[in-house]
Amino acid sequence: MLKYDDYKDYINENLTSFFPEIEPYAATIDKAMAYSLKVGGKRLRPVLLLAACDFAGGDIKEALPYACSLEYIHTYSLIHDDLPAMDNDDLRRGQPTNHIVFGEDMAILAGDGLLNTAAETMSRDLSEYYDDPVRMVNHAKAGLAIIESAGVKGMIAGQVADVENQYNEATAELVEFIDANKTGALLTAPVIAGLNIAGADDDMLDNFRSYAKQLGKAFQISDDILDAEGDEKLIGKKVGKDQDAGKCNYVCVHGIDAAKAKLHELTKGAKDALASYGDEASFFIELADKLEIRKA
Ligand code: IPE
Ligand code: IPE
Ligand code: MG
Ligand code: MG
Ligand code: MG
Repeated sequence: MLKYDDYKDYINENLTSFFPEIEPYAATIDKAMAYSLKVGGKRLRPVLLLAACDFAGGDIKEALPYACSLEYIHTYSLIHDDLPAMDNDDLRRGQPTNHIVFGEDMAILAGDGLLNTAAETMSRDLSEYYDDPVRMVNHAKAGLAIIESAGVKGMIAGQVADVENQYNEATAELVEFIDANKTGALLTAPVIAGLNIAGADDDMLDNFRSYAKQLGKAFQISDDILDAEGDEKLIGKKVGKDQDAGKCNYVCVHGIDAAKAKLHELTKGAKDALASYGDEASFFIELADKLEIRKA
């Protein structure tokens, strides 16, 4: 296993290598897509994907197209999330949001372009394994996990519930649905996809699914906590946005202390899910601990 920053560097070095060549008349889309991708980001989802593949004995080179595709999808979700019609944010990853730089029309297209480029990248990857059925099936499973998690039973479902309930008083159940879907889904997909590429067995998939689901919910709760009391300079986006926008998140429903307690409980649950691997799973245990106290 490598260190977090080593996986991250590998992703950053290759991030746009799967972009198709763009015709001159459409050149702006290339700039708009690359802008939001390259402007920053922790790369948590692709790092998790490579690490899961590595953990299960797979080749991270084989997992790279899927790791980059997932980062394309995540970045598209952020570009659209920031649009005036959604959260109306002008700061992301410490820089002006995509629509501030390129206009709303191009930001919508940049999001669409990133999603499509992800689908193209994963489909093209499959075409390289037509004569290797075992690998082809493993890669197809990874692609399905990613595309499903971003879809109407995953991230999009969470975003629907999130925007539709602006100005409503949220219930615990609603917030749980939003967190599991708008954020949890895209954080569960990478471990499943990474393990699939390595051909991991069902036992490992179940343990890591449990880890990632809890990590994903915890991640959104920490996002809500940082929205309430984080530092804009560190987090790279405006704080206090949810309350101003009438969004009732985990902190709003349960209070800040209960949110911190839940974050701790979910982090512990995530780590417990990997207990049977002992020190071998230390990468994932340390990551969960780091995310619990993150400031960015
Ligand atoms: C932000 O995700 C959106 C949420 C799901 C809370 P990240 O906090 O992973 O954002 P980047 O990729 O590091 O910018
Ligand atoms: C966004 O949730 C989750 C996405 C699918 C993008 P938020 O709206 O809370 O994310 P931030 O706080 O803008 O990053
Ligand atoms: Mg949002
Ligand atoms: Mg937002
Ligand atoms: Mg938020």
